[in-house]
Amino acid sequence: MVLDAGCGMGRYLRIAGESSARLIVGLDVSGAVAAARELTAELPQVAVVRGDLLRPCFAPASFDRIYSLGVLDHTPDPRTAFLALARLLKPGGRIAIWVYPRQRPLIEAIMDLQRAVSTRMPLGLLGPLCQWSAPLGGLKRRLMSSRRWFIQRIGVALHLATIGVSMHPDPEVRVCDTLDWYAPKYLSRHTAEEVRGWFAEAGLTDVVDLSRNQVFYHEGQGHGINLAGSRPPAPGVP
Ligand SMILES: C[S@@+](CC[C@H](N)C(=O)[O-])C[C@H]1O[C@@H](n2cnc3c(N)ncnc32)[C@H](O)[C@@H]1O
Repeated sequence: MVLDAGCGMGRYLRIAGESSARLIVGLDVSGAVAAARELTAELPQVAVVRGDLLRPCFAPASFDRIYSLGVLDHTPDPRTAFLALARLLKPGGRIAIWVYPRQRPLIEAIMDLQRAVSTRMPLGLLGPLCQWSAPLGGLKRRLMSSRRWFIQRIGVALHLATIGVSMHPDPEVRVCDTLDWYAPKYLSRHTAEEVRGWFAEAGLTDVVDLSRNQVFYHEGQGHGINLAGSRPPAPGVP
């Protein structure tokens, strides 16, 4: 049994469903479950449930594997949310999570300022703004990957001014990622030490940093706190 905790529209649920014969459950609190169901409709081993991971509708120790990518940092209390998820792990099971990384204080301040404005905007305005920002993301991407130092610096300055505007190579994903940054009420950033503390508190061992050796489209994209850990097997079980 595998749990995709906070499956959203199901992009990773589909990948997991296509690559495994195990029963995979996608859980999400939002109406995105409708899209996740559609995306995984032809995968019989995938089930999608609408529910809150803070009050899960599953018995403790239900899952062999849990992954939760970009979700805990959108809850009001990520540590509590992580501990709730870890309780769902069977002895011998493994959990992997990804959360936004804490940045330098100046960057944190810029992010907080921008989100203080964007989270107060009506979605009817923020949505089109994110759509219109897609070419800007493409421009930042080109500038920042320039070999000319001066042009690259212009790209960095532009990026700081529009830090949540995604630079993903796919313009459609850029729009989604940008909205995903500016719209959510909660968006916390964490250090690896802090997250390792959650794993320790949950009694998890064999904690590894999955972000090592990851390949990205460009510097900065996708980097996050990406750890996995295991619940030790029950006594007497090898
Ligand atoms: C940034 S999206 C990530 C979705 C998916 N993991 C992905 O990477 O495509 C965050 C998701 O977490 C979900 N979420 C936030 N709080 C949640 C909660 N308490 N219980 C379940 N899902 C939650 C949101 O509804 C949203 O779909």
